[in-house]
Amino acid sequence: METKLLYESLDKVAADAVAVVLFEESEAPAYAKAWIDELKASGEFAGKAGEMAVLHQPAALKAKRLIVAGGGKRDKFDAAALRRAVGSVVRSAKQKGVKTLAFALDGPVAKAAAAEAAVEGAILGNYETDVHKTSSKESKSLDAFHLIASPDGAELEAAFERGRILAESQNFARDLVNEPANRMTPLVMADRARAMAAEAGLEYEVLDEAKMRELGMGSLLGVAQGSTEPPALIIVRYRPPASPKSTDHLALVGKGVTFDSGGISIKPAEGMEKMKYDMAGGAAVLGAMRAIARLKPSIPVTAFVPAVENMVSGRAQRPGDIVTSLDGKTIEVLNTDAEGRLILNDAMTYAKRQGCTHLVDVATLTGAIVVALGYVNVGAFTNDEPLLGKVMAAAKDQGEKMWHMPLDDDYKDLLKSAFADLANIGGRWGGAISAAWFLKEFAGDTPWVHLDIAGTAWLEETKPYMAKGPTGVTVRTFVKLAMGW
Ligand code: BES
Ligand code: MN
Ligand code: ZN
Repeated sequence: METKLLYESLDKVAADAVAVVLFEESEAPAYAKAWIDELKASGEFAGKAGEMAVLHQPAALKAKRLIVAGGGKRDKFDAAALRRAVGSVVRSAKQKGVKTLAFALDGPVAKAAAAEAAVEGAILGNYETDVHKTSSKESKSLDAFHLIASPDGAELEAAFERGRILAESQNFARDLVNEPANRMTPLVMADRARAMAAEAGLEYEVLDEAKMRELGMGSLLGVAQGSTEPPALIIVRYRPPASPKSTDHLALVGKGVTFDSGGISIKPAEGMEKMKYDMAGGAAVLGAMRAIARLKPSIPVTAFVPAVENMVSGRAQRPGDIVTSLDGKTIEVLNTDAEGRLILNDAMTYAKRQGCTHLVDVATLTGAIVVALGYVNVGAFTNDEPLLGKVMAAAKDQGEKMWHMPLDDDYKDLLKSAFADLANIGGRWGGAISAAWFLKEFAGDTPWVHLDIAGTAWLEETKPYMAKGPTGVTVRTFVKLAMGW
C-alpha cells in the first residue's frame, strides 16, 4: 500500500473516500453539516468510539465518499485510540471497495505523534491473513492511504515515515507467524531472517546443530532432537553508525518454536493447530530488528532466536531426561511441553557471552499467563526494576499493554528437582511465574526482562481495526525501547 502525506484542503482531495474523526462534543463541520445534523438527530451517529457513517457523493467535496468515524470523548482520545480508529476506518472502507482513502488529521493528539499512529493504524488494519486462499478471497485491500495534514516541517514527515516503518515491520513479524509449521520450519525462519538482514543492512549469523553441540547447548538440543527439522540459533546484529557513548548492549531474545506438539508430554488434539504461533516471540524480535536497522538508534542491539520444532518421535526427549545447559546447570525435564524455557536459557547464556549487558526475552511461554491476564496484557517479569521501567514506558508509548507480574524469592522453590539443579516445571499454580523464575536463574546478575505473550500474540477474533490471527505484539515496544535508550 502506498502511503503519503497530503498538504491539501479536504474538499480538494480526490479519493474513493475521505475520512474524519468526530468527537461526541464536535460541532458538525460546514462541508457536511446537514447530513451530520441529521445523523445525530436520528440517533445513528453520536460521535461515540466505534461508530461510523458513510455519505456518497458529498456535494461540497471532490472525493466520492465521506466517512465519519466516532472518536468518543475528545479528552479521552489518545494515540492508541487514533491508531484503532484509523484501522477501523480502513478495514470497513476496503470491504466496501474503497481503494484510495484519505484521512484528515485533526484532534487532540500532538501532530507528529498523531501522524505516526494514524499511518500505523492504516497499515496494520490493511493487513490480511488469507494469503494461502487461492480463490474467493473475502478480504480486500487498500491501494493507497493518504494523510491530510497542514505542513509542519521535518518532524511531521519523520514521524509519518517512522510510523510506516514500524507498522510494516510489525506486519513482517505477522507474516512469519501467519505461516503454518510446514512452511515455517526453523531453517525457513533462518532464511527469512537472512533475507531481511541483507535487505536492511544487518549482520546475520546462524549457529547450526553441530556448532551448538560443540558449544554445549544441551538444553536447546534436547528439545530439538525429536524433530527431523534441524534447529537453528538465528543471530541478527545491529551496530550504531557512530560509536556509542556507553557500553550498553541490548539483547532481544525471542522464542522460535515453529511448532509445539508438546513432545512426549503431548498436547490435546483440540487447538493444537494453533501451536504454529509458538515462534511469535522470535518473529517479534526479527520484526523489531527490521525497523531498528532503518531508524538507527544509538545503542547496539542483537537479536537471538532459538528456532526449533518440538515433536514426538523415537528420538524425542523423555520426561525425566536430564540435560546440561550451556551455562553448566543440569535440568530435569519433567514435562517436554515446557520447552520454551529450555531453548531460551541457552540463547540467553549465549547472548551474555556475546557481550550483551541487558536482556529482554519474549515468548509465548505459558498457558498460565492467559489464565492470569487474558488476551489483553503482556505479562512482564524482571530482575531489574529500572530496565522494566524502560520497557513499560516504551510499551505505554506504543499502546501495547503490559502488566508487571511478581517474581519474588518465595516462588523459587517451585523448581526444585531431586535429581538435577533445576526442574523445568513448577507446580500447578502460578505457572507463568515459575516459568519466569526458571529463566531468571539463567539471567543471573544481568538486568533482564521477560515478556510472556502467549495471550497477546494471537487475536482470537477479528477486531474492527485488526484481522484475526498474529498481532506482532512487542515489535513497536522494542523499537521504541532501543530508540529511547
Ligand atoms: N507454547 C506453550 C504455551 C502456550 C499455551 C502458548 C497456550 C500459547 C497458548 C508452552 O510451550 C507450553 O506448552 N507451556 C505449558 C507449560 C506446562 C507444561 C508447565 C503450558 O502452559 O501448559
Ligand atoms: Mn510447550
Ligand atoms: Zn511452547
